[in-house]
Amino acid sequence: MILAITGPTSGIGSETLKALVSDYEKTLILARNPKKAKILIASLPSNLQPRAIFIPVDLSDMESVSKAAVLVKQEVAQIDVLINNAGGIFQNKEVTVDGFELTYSANHLGHFLLTNLLMPLLLNSSLPRVINVSSEAHRVARPDFTDLQYEKKEYSSFNAYANVKLFNILFTKSLVDRFGDQGLSSYALHPGVVKSNFGMDTSGIFKIFWKLAKPFMISPREGAKTSIFLAKSKIDKSHNGYYFKKRKPNKPSSEAMSKKLRDRLWEASEKSVEKWM
Ligand SMILES: NC(=O)c1ccc[n+]([C@@H]2O[C@H](COP(=O)([O-])OP(=O)(O)OC[C@H]3O[C@@H](n4cnc5c(N)ncnc54)[C@H](OP(=O)(O)O)[C@@H]3O)[C@@H](O)[C@H]2O)c1
Repeated sequence: MILAITGPTSGIGSETLKALVSDYEKTLILARNPKKAKILIASLPSNLQPRAIFIPVDLSDMESVSKAAVLVKQEVAQIDVLINNAGGIFQNKEVTVDGFELTYSANHLGHFLLTNLLMPLLLNSSLPRVINVSSEAHRVARPDFTDLQYEKKEYSSFNAYANVKLFNILFTKSLVDRFGDQGLSSYALHPGVVKSNFGMDTSGIFKIFWKLAKPFMISPREGAKTSIFLAKSKIDKSHNGYYFKKRKPNKPSSEAMSKKLRDRLWEASEKSVEKWM
């Protein structure tokens, strides 16, 4: 069995990886920072370290995502579980090398491209799963498909983040629409409000609120529990495509259930990354 996880160098991803690594023959560490990846691998029990393989990837750079998929294909012929965990909220609008707004690119588009490029490997597994780490923030999303890159309206870090976390759920359901009949399961989840490095790239009111909330937040180990549950447990077929919270299915917003919105997102995403598909 092969596991692949994005963003395992910090917070929830790190705890998810540490809990799962012993269950898999190989674990692909998809991370952007080689130093952090090395430290992470060195922190694993020595007998497990050879099972962890570092694959460099910056999810906000589509060329890097495309190269990572090539490296993964050289390492393994199948993937059983892919956990799209990496993400973040960014205070100021930043435009990536490909011309995309950073929140959209790092939280959604990079994972959209990566998952599609790795789909043949996932479909080589008898029970493939894609797990997307979303957030309760999706409930306040107000996506504007005519201006996904914030070229016309003023950038808001929280609005951009809420939108991409909605996109994580829409993407989950689209994966089931498109690949469910080939055996693919996909789930989205809210990890809880977790004391991690999340929110460190912010300032102003959000940072003050986030600092004040820290004593009430759960640990990354606690925050990893739903990701671990979704990777390991037998889940009823009727829950394929569902959003989970505290290891249980949870009803997401009505926007998250909209077929029209998810088809629109898929089309827009496919168009954005067609050069690398
Ligand atoms: N913390 C919360 O309360 C909370 C609540 C709901 C949802 N979430 C979601 O949970 C997930 C994990 O967040 P966390 O709380 O564990 O935050 P974190 O400690 O900041 O970890 C984020 C991870 O994503 C990686 N990452 C960020 N941008 C990347 C990029 N462009 N390319 C590759 N990797 C990138 C980071 O890499 P580096 O180590 O190199 O920075 C890090 O490993 C995110 O999707 C977040 O939206 C968090």
